[in-house]
Amino acid sequence: MNLTLKIWRQKSPDDKGGMVTYPMKDVESHMSFLEMLDVLNNDLITKGEEPVAFDHDCREGICGTCSMVINGRPHGPDSAITTCQLHMRKFNDGDTIHIEPFRAKSFPVLKDLTVDRGAFERIMQAGGFISVNTSGNTIDANTIPIRKDHADMAFDAATCIGCGACVAACKNSSAMLFVSAKVSQLALLPQGHTERTERVLKMVHQMDAEGFGTCSNTGACAAECPKEISLDNIARLNREYLRASFVSGE
Ligand code: SF4
Ligand code: FES
Repeated sequence: MNLTLKIWRQKSPDDKGGMVTYPMKDVESHMSFLEMLDVLNNDLITKGEEPVAFDHDCREGICGTCSMVINGRPHGPDSAITTCQLHMRKFNDGDTIHIEPFRAKSFPVLKDLTVDRGAFERIMQAGGFISVNTSGNTIDANTIPIRKDHADMAFDAATCIGCGACVAACKNSSAMLFVSAKVSQLALLPQGHTERTERVLKMVHQMDAEGFGTCSNTGACAAECPKEISLDNIARLNREYLRASFVSGE
């Protein structure tokens, strides 16, 4: 199929940037979206032009780095998949495809389609961990009884890959779905209870310090999340934060 790509090109964080048009010929429908961009970049390099910078690593929906907005939707027109899992059969011959980076003040553009998602790392560093002794004598996980429904909910929350599509989809650039998944994953399990109170307070404070917006319950985050993280986690985050505020007297 023949396509017209309109891609956001931006040389550096300070560059104004703009859309550049690239005609693509003979794109195979079985190609992944990133393979299609690889072909474009090979052509650009052959012509002595600067290839399009975009993030990718695993190319199988695990690492969460392939962040881009395709035709107005984070991770493109399909549901419950990442950009690297999107295939060109989702598009038609003659289509024009707009490709942009995730847009959020807390995710500044570094170059072309790559953004700095260090804000998520700093939120995780603030409290997204448990303290356990790992110096030998590892305790078998099955020695700690955990309710099946709690284990299932914790597992579902743990599937969040930190891609940031929830932020890019939200009109407020809220990171509530991401933070709620990370808080829920640990709050639901006994192993996470030791730091339960300080964790949620620190992670929410860091989320605010990074400049993410507030949640106004539109649900755009969950609609675009490639891992179908549930809005129930945001309700749990609010309960965890309220409880921690009472317990700590903040
Ligand atoms: S909640 Fe979903 S959209 Fe947000 S970072 Fe996690 S996987 Fe990505
Ligand atoms: S490249 Fe890892 S999730 Fe897409």
